[in-house]
Amino acid sequence: MTAENGLNSFHERNDIRLGLVGAGSVAGLYVEAAAGLPELAITAVCDVRREAAQALAAPLDARVYDDHRAMFAAGNLDAVVITSPHSLHTPMAEDAAAAGLHVLMEKPMATTVADCRRMIKVCADSGVRLAIGNLQRFVPAVRQAAEILRSGQLGRPLLITERRAVRYDPESRPAWFFDPELAGGGIMMNIGGHSIDKAQVLTGEKVVAVNARIWRRPGIAVETEASGVMELSGDIQLTFSITSTGLPPQDETEVVCENGALRLSHTGGLWMFRDGQAVHLKDRTGHDEIVTAFRDQLVDFTGSETPSVTGDYGLSVVAAVQAVYDSAADRTLQRTEY
Ligand SMILES: NC(=O)c1ccc[n+]([C@@H]2O[C@H](COP(=O)([O-])OP(=O)(O)OC[C@H]3O[C@@H](n4cnc5c(N)ncnc54)[C@H](O)[C@@H]3O)[C@@H](O)[C@H]2O)c1
Repeated sequence: MTAENGLNSFHERNDIRLGLVGAGSVAGLYVEAAAGLPELAITAVCDVRREAAQALAAPLDARVYDDHRAMFAAGNLDAVVITSPHSLHTPMAEDAAAAGLHVLMEKPMATTVADCRRMIKVCADSGVRLAIGNLQRFVPAVRQAAEILRSGQLGRPLLITERRAVRYDPESRPAWFFDPELAGGGIMMNIGGHSIDKAQVLTGEKVVAVNARIWRRPGIAVETEASGVMELSGDIQLTFSITSTGLPPQDETEVVCENGALRLSHTGGLWMFRDGQAVHLKDRTGHDEIVTAFRDQLVDFTGSETPSVTGDYGLSVVAAVQAVYDSAADRTLQRTEY
């Protein structure tokens, strides 16, 4: 299908042909997620590392490319999932839109707010849909926590404490993540974006101001640690600490509300605290939960009338990350720029 067929007909199709740009680690999750969806097929895979594209494409019987423009020009595709290094996101979205292909863009949407705006405009002008891979709302435990908060049973959210620790050094992930030009930033851009997304999804609010600091470890060109305070609309405060020392990894979120609290934990699952009682609502399910999130994201992208994670939403996350960098550089409180 090309854009002339209109956005609305896309979600009614049951033979959607997807192309993958980038055949690295996250692309493997899309392959796993798509395997459970008979209505769509991955029919082409592109990577500058042709052997990586070949390895992913072979069991799918998909075509292999090492140039995304050649893949787009060959036709036979309805949509693309772009999982390339961050600074390539905007030019690749422009190429996809020019070819009439719908775009599911991995997070972070782009490395600057200006690039996010360009991507939104070019997709709108070309009549293709744009969805962003900020997938926290599709993670089952986050979804359940957001529903509880939305129900009002705990009262208004007041403050969030967010703690992430992951290994973040050149031995732990591909080299481009440590190249400021390609990655657009370090741990805050890559991991911190999930924290911002999660806080926004849980509360239904947006980050409006940031006071933060970042640090780089010797010999690494991007920041490896970030901490600070964010204010969300609705007068909610988020305190975050995202560090690179984490082995074992940590991923803990606490939301304190007027009448109770929720805690989401990578190891402990979902807990609710109310009236002096602690109730365990959900175990963590690890890899299965991640694949479920990717699958539901694909269903939302291809199967709903309008994707849930719009370009404007992706921009809001990039704007909050940018505000962290501006705040750290100027040592001032920064308002987010929408
Ligand atoms: N949603 C999530 O939970 C999640 C998890 C991991 C990564 N990501 C995001 O997914 C994207 C990819 O991350 P990754 O961990 O898979 O990285 P990766 O390095 O494993 O994969 C990226 C791939 O892109 C390829 N590539 C580079 N330049 C290219 C070009 N010009 N054309 C085609 N392919 C090209 C690389 O060779 C590599 O195979 C990033 O945006 C990252 O932030 C999201």
